[in-house]
Amino acid sequence: MKIAIIGAGALGSVIGFHLAPVVAITLVDPWAEHVSAINAYGLRCACNGEEQTRSIPATTDPAHLEPVDVALITVKAAQTTWAAEVAARLLKPGGVAYTLQNGLGNAEILSARLGPYRVGQAVTTLGATLLGPGWVKLAGRGPTTFGAAPSLSIAYALANTLRSGGLPAGVSTNLDSLVWGKLIVNVGINALTAILRVPNGALASIPAAAELVRRAVEEAVAVAHAAGIALALTDPVAETLAVAQMTAANRSSMLQDILRGAPTEIDTINGAIVREGRRLGVPTPFNAMLCDLVKALEATAPLRVTE
Ligand code: PAF
Repeated sequence: MKIAIIGAGALGSVIGFHLAPVVAITLVDPWAEHVSAINAYGLRCACNGEEQTRSIPATTDPAHLEPVDVALITVKAAQTTWAAEVAARLLKPGGVAYTLQNGLGNAEILSARLGPYRVGQAVTTLGATLLGPGWVKLAGRGPTTFGAAPSLSIAYALANTLRSGGLPAGVSTNLDSLVWGKLIVNVGINALTAILRVPNGALASIPAAAELVRRAVEEAVAVAHAAGIALALTDPVAETLAVAQMTAANRSSMLQDILRGAPTEIDTINGAIVREGRRLGVPTPFNAMLCDLVKALEATAPLRVTE
């Protein structure tokens, strides 16, 4: 099996690092400095308290790559349209693109370009941080689950490949509850850590912040119920706060985006709750306000007062 990892940010690089010894992979990413560093010195990964470097082919230009069986889509939401074009160019006719991205709506963008029978959804709880060009950290070895559609055999092959590379993985026929479970955790943590500029743990340890998590999560749970999703979470607020506690030292991906002045995934996370709420007649005023605040944060970045 040949795999292209489209999006070699923190998540794509960590997955690529683990898969490189067991399968033919190539990293594709538009960030030239990162790609050059990987090609020149290898990809450096900090995991389990030690640093290792592995040689992995990386490119900014997929034009000359050989066709692949699988494209793992690990770009941020703002780059999904670009990733769909790259996948369309690289995938063999029977190949499948699996999105491992946060939020809702990415599979639909990929399907519009590739066709629904060539797109699969996966959910990952791997924690990854980009430390610099060519340098990443595995922050948590949570499981990755591949949806059984559109190809059960490819889903199993991918899960086995990840496991051979040392990453826990499985296959599920009911991915919706996992997709929404992760979405709800991201709804509760990401925007608030970006607005408050705190590591995840602050949301669990400061009661005033935990109350904001509760308001965001309860709206999202009401939308999930209206959408007929059977959530795997039994106490979504407590479980979101538990993830914040377990990842206490992490800067959420949205806080990292805000700090580097990059576009955030607010539209596919809290924005998805607002859109689905509107469609289903469920009010989501708190998530709408979080979206407005994060969009204002993005837009006012050049004017930020730092002292
Ligand atoms: O997006 C993220 O940062 C992560 O999904 C999570 C679980 C919130 C941990 O930082």
